[in-house]
Amino acid sequence: MVLASLSLSAQKSATIKGNVNDANQIIPKEIYGQFAEHLGTCIYGGLWVGENSGIPNTNGYRTDVLNALKDLKIPVLRWPGGCFADEYHWMDGIGPKENRPKMVNNNWGGTIEDNSFGTHEFLNLCEILECEPYISGNVGSGTVEELAKWVEYMTSDGDSPMANLRRKNGRDKAWKVKYLGVGNESWGCGGDMRPEYYADLYRRYAIYCRNYDDNRLYKIASGASDYDYNWTEILMDRAQNHMQGLSLHYYTVKGWDGSKGSATQFNTDDYYWTLGKCREVEDVLKKHMAIMDKHDPQKRVNLLLDEWGTWWDEEPGTISGHLYQQNTMRDAFVASLSFDIFHKYTERLTMANIAQIANVLQSMILTNDKGQMVLTPTYHVFKLYIVHQDATHIPLDIQCDEMTVGDNRTLPMISATASKDKNGVVHISLSNVDLTNDQDITINLSDLKAKNVTGEILTSGNIDDYNSFENPNVVNIKEFKGAKLNKGTLQVKVPAKSIVTLSLH
Ligand code: AHR
Repeated sequence: MVLASLSLSAQKSATIKGNVNDANQIIPKEIYGQFAEHLGTCIYGGLWVGENSGIPNTNGYRTDVLNALKDLKIPVLRWPGGCFADEYHWMDGIGPKENRPKMVNNNWGGTIEDNSFGTHEFLNLCEILECEPYISGNVGSGTVEELAKWVEYMTSDGDSPMANLRRKNGRDKAWKVKYLGVGNESWGCGGDMRPEYYADLYRRYAIYCRNYDDNRLYKIASGASDYDYNWTEILMDRAQNHMQGLSLHYYTVKGWDGSKGSATQFNTDDYYWTLGKCREVEDVLKKHMAIMDKHDPQKRVNLLLDEWGTWWDEEPGTISGHLYQQNTMRDAFVASLSFDIFHKYTERLTMANIAQIANVLQSMILTNDKGQMVLTPTYHVFKLYIVHQDATHIPLDIQCDEMTVGDNRTLPMISATASKDKNGVVHISLSNVDLTNDQDITINLSDLKAKNVTGEILTSGNIDDYNSFENPNVVNIKEFKGAKLNKGTLQVKVPAKSIVTLSLH
């Protein structure tokens, strides 16, 4: 049992300082990336129901989900896994659907995969959502030739064998594919390799994945898990010249053995422990980035956190291995606190992909086979934070109460981030993680020219509140009127367990 104790008395005020003119580092929109794996009902039932479904769809994609995702302005979508990627053979997912072979999804419950959602269905989805595709290639059980041909199939516009096969399958023009992951978790489900072996293998794959016509691949090496700094050290030492990005995975999870805890039934200590574990990503990022700095002081190679989020026990009664979990205000805080951290390190950290987009782990969207859809509290945080996409980060100095939480981590009661968009509008997002105390926050931003403040808030009566098919709007964004701007000083009363985004214009 973890214990959370207040280290300061019940002080309920905080101060935040910053200077608008210190804004100099763009927050790449790819920090708001998504991940879609052939896992449970993420693809089948979540994104894709097929043209003949009774559920309203647009060429096979769920129309309600498409509309919700368009509102999120998704910058990049990673696919087809995850662990699934290293068992995926892309040629099984092209051509007439009735001819596509089935396979067993060995990683995720042994479900039969019919390959009806393949390369065309994915890349067309990215075009509809106007996002960059991020293809995760099979290194664990595939071949160099197979991945090289996939790249040719997707991106060659010439009279090449794979381009002609693509044309035969109904797509004349090549797609634009920028991000190419060479393997996934190659230290584990992606082949159980040692870093030295994978570094050599990565170099070999990278050579044969070519740039066709004007398509330019951005090659990403499979990176470390959490605290495995040796993996980053070896990859940077032996393969950095062959990569544009190196990935990293960090989950807010209690551990890999036994129960991870219920997504909806937790106590106060569990809640604060979760936020402490979530915030530890900052230390993990710093340590991986310090290794990268040593090998690459020019910061040419980017760090991509291409899997992150909460991982709870599967919801009772759901299929084992499908990783279906509910999503409460606690998950919303994991999202907001994570973004507040990611924004500070975008000199090196240029992409983050939450796991996953629908029906799996910390998802944006939950769907069922009756045609219902729910937007999760995490979805609403992504919505509240859209304003920070491609805006310029304003560093902040935050003074507030702190708690010591389980595993001896420090948890500030206020988390915040600020940015200036291309129209000069300043946005500040504030999370008051305190379960009982409102916080009076005084914010002084030097050189702030704004005269008006408006705001939106995400909160709920209970920290374990969630949106369900029966009650889909328990946790929702509302207008926030608790901020006053007077001679450049902002006074904001942020209620307990609330996330607020202010616009200063
Ligand atoms: O997101 C679920 C799984 O977590 C992914 O397939 C894998 O890469 C990671 O272990």
